[in-house]
Amino acid sequence: MVKGMHDILPKDQDWWESLFETGWSVAGLHDFNYIETPILETAALFEASVGAATDIVDKEMYVFKTKGGERVALRPENTASVMRSYLEHHLGYFSSPLKVFYCGPFFRYDKPQKGRYREFHQWGFEILGDGDAVYDVSIILAVLDFLWSLKFKDLTLKINAVGCRICRPTYRTKLKEYYRSRKSKLCKDCVKRYDNNVLRLLDCKEPGCLEIKKEAPIILNYLCSSCNNHFRAVLELIEDNDIPYEPDPHLVRGLDYYNKTVFEVFSSKLEGSALAGGGRYDYLSEIIGGRPMPAVGAAMGMERIIEAMQESGLVPTVKRKKKVFFIAIGEEAKKASLKFINELRRAGIRTLESLGRKSLKAQLKSADKHKAGLSVILGQKEIFEESVIIRDMKTGAQETVPVGKLVERVKKGLK
Ligand code: HAM
Repeated sequence: MVKGMHDILPKDQDWWESLFETGWSVAGLHDFNYIETPILETAALFEASVGAATDIVDKEMYVFKTKGGERVALRPENTASVMRSYLEHHLGYFSSPLKVFYCGPFFRYDKPQKGRYREFHQWGFEILGDGDAVYDVSIILAVLDFLWSLKFKDLTLKINAVGCRICRPTYRTKLKEYYRSRKSKLCKDCVKRYDNNVLRLLDCKEPGCLEIKKEAPIILNYLCSSCNNHFRAVLELIEDNDIPYEPDPHLVRGLDYYNKTVFEVFSSKLEGSALAGGGRYDYLSEIIGGRPMPAVGAAMGMERIIEAMQESGLVPTVKRKKKVFFIAIGEEAKKASLKFINELRRAGIRTLESLGRKSLKAQLKSADKHKAGLSVILGQKEIFEESVIIRDMKTGAQETVPVGKLVERVKKGLK
């Protein structure tokens, strides 16, 4: 397997199904509609939007030339793609604001480690076409409802503002002034960041840089009145809705397209790795050739959520139907069994089998392994008598029922 990639195996199905089920349910309740964009986009889309001087684009993007000579990238994130799709299909015409959600694989050529993969999955929510603070908080609520539905109890919402075209330049100058005399103590990457993208200095996880960051100026002291009012409105709504939060005045996020609100959500069991991140991106439309249009969104890392659930002792929330196991003894019965299995499935009964095994003992063992509540047994004698045997797998009690009563008796037995 290619380094940093991973398989999702059948044994993990309950976890993934829990996330998908929760995601679709929360999206439905919050009125988000499904959108899916291609895994391949032009590399230029992410260079312009996420930012050429971010780690995601500069170091981590899978970029290659197609046989036709087009420079493309495996998508490292989806906000830029959603905005591209919005502009290309004039989606604002159909709904304003447009509320969409997505899930799927993303690719970043990072150093593989726990909670950080080169291929990972995100579930995201985006609201395009409205700049009101109510939508910043709607996104935060969708993310938290998703995580609360999975029974997380230890979440921390960290929130900050990153200003706009008017106030950010002043803050950038202040940061440069602060870091100028400390440049020799910064890591190699941060020395580069000092020149290319000084806000990124606040994102560095190197212990030395983290220490220097502690005393760095905070943007809240430099926000213009519009950004200040917006941030205040967001915090007021957060408090009105009893959402616990922690202001983090140095939170900047690793993508350049944000303005005003930015936030991340953490679980105490996976410190240092955010389960979700997002914010407002009112300039993104213009950056990629559209008209000015405010938007806000967030995405959650699905592998990280599963890891955090496991570390927290949480269990999958998916509720599976009780199952019946169909056992056929002999060639005749095997041939006849599909008809009965179909009848059960069409009646909404989850029906398993291991028809490849010949003996009753081996098939009963399978039924036990799969924790089936009931088994339906069909042998030569039953075919002749037009009956089946229903066996309670817990007590071992068996009863013979006419085939016409199969569905009714199985349903009753599974209750
Ligand atoms: P992001 O913070 O880069 O934001 O990613 C969102 C989430 O994806 C992270 O909080 C994390 O849970 C997960 N994630 C990111 N990288 C990895 C990785 N290498 N391995 C495993 N999980 C990872 C974005 O991608 C933005 N597009 C979010 C957004 C949507 N902002 C506005 N709308």
